[in-house]
Amino acid sequence: MIDIIEKTRDGIALSYDDIEHLVAGIVDNTWPDYQLSAWLMAVVLNGLTDVESFWLTGAMAFSHPQPDPLGLVDKHSTGGVGDKTTLVLAPLMASLGLPMAKMSGRGLGHTGGTLDKLESIPGFKTTLDVEDIKRQVEEIGVAVVAQSGELAPADRRLYALRDVTGTVNNISLIASSIMSKKLAAGTPNLVLDVKVGSGAFMANLEQARALAQLMVRIGRYYNRNVTALITSMQQPLGWAVGNAIEVNEAMDCLQQRGPADLREEVLALAAELIHLAHGTDLNKAHAEARAALEDGRAWTKFTQWVARQGGSPQALDGPLPLAPVRREWHASTAGRIASLNTRGIGQVALNLGAGRHRLEDAVDPAVGLLCYVKVGQVIQPGDLLGVVYARTNDDAQKALDGLAQTVRYGETTQRDNDSGLILDRVTTVDMPT
Ligand code: URA
Repeated sequence: MIDIIEKTRDGIALSYDDIEHLVAGIVDNTWPDYQLSAWLMAVVLNGLTDVESFWLTGAMAFSHPQPDPLGLVDKHSTGGVGDKTTLVLAPLMASLGLPMAKMSGRGLGHTGGTLDKLESIPGFKTTLDVEDIKRQVEEIGVAVVAQSGELAPADRRLYALRDVTGTVNNISLIASSIMSKKLAAGTPNLVLDVKVGSGAFMANLEQARALAQLMVRIGRYYNRNVTALITSMQQPLGWAVGNAIEVNEAMDCLQQRGPADLREEVLALAAELIHLAHGTDLNKAHAEARAALEDGRAWTKFTQWVARQGGSPQALDGPLPLAPVRREWHASTAGRIASLNTRGIGQVALNLGAGRHRLEDAVDPAVGLLCYVKVGQVIQPGDLLGVVYARTNDDAQKALDGLAQTVRYGETTQRDNDSGLILDRVTTVDMPT
């Protein structure tokens, strides 16, 4: 291990055997945390080559026997604010005959997690055993469950160390972490939603593109069909940020209501998956996805899915209940919205109780907010910018004060290629020789 740390420290590429040895020792706990932490910091300072990243990903993915793939398509988002796309996309794909069995995570920090959102539906169970998942996917084509502890255990250990050693933010480490879990799950067609902007890991388009390209290359190296969309987090996706409130918005989207950007992003991701799985022309794939959303097939699938994972049927009749203190957020000045601090908006929801500061914290499903304002919009004093749902008046006031801080007025500083929702599409990449 010392030899491996020194090589990375000195910018010398690791061999395949070095990486196998490294990952074997992570899984069986031979390497202590302090040596792994030193190696992680060397990676952050010097980087890994693409080939080292491929081998690291493969070693982490394939350290355990592979289960048979449960679905045909999968999606991964690098994490954002208001990102409830899985709740719409999963039943939409299943309604088109493309089974989706997705392992999801919980929210941490300012970003929300799909499992927390689903668990705001009374009765909804997210821990199923493999046989149940298999049966459910065979029967209805969709399952979204908590990540199994067996999947890519090396990543679990490394990720926990990265979180506390300032070594999360490195493109090779992020790409190998995400892709090891996706390769281990075995799904052949994968769309990646790489978020960029104030609410995302990647602060600018160049970084996001580099991350997307590396993940697409890793997929190619291991013979998976992978496309990445780079999407904007210059503002939350849709209006709702929280748990039950995001499920309500997803149910709206499935029934032809709700914000246009959520619908646009879901359809773009769906079209990519149809294209990857069947080779359908992208425009035609988009039309197929739109038809299944518009004629109610996706909604019907959603209702089957919720019932199958134990969710209360009443939950589907109307919006899930929200926290008792409802306060509106109104504009106090006139002007054009130059930028929004998306991370700050996520933080407001977190402080209301919708998220967790630490992994063991509980979330309150009923609190959250709606943010109607989008970058570039011109507003007048008194315009409704959003709504807060809080447990107490005090919490609501703090949230309104926090939201007011997230808006900057003036001419927008966005460059042309940074505006819009879908900023780039990465599908073909040069492979290192
Ligand atoms: N998500 C992951 O799973 N891993 C990372 O390193 C970053 C985001």
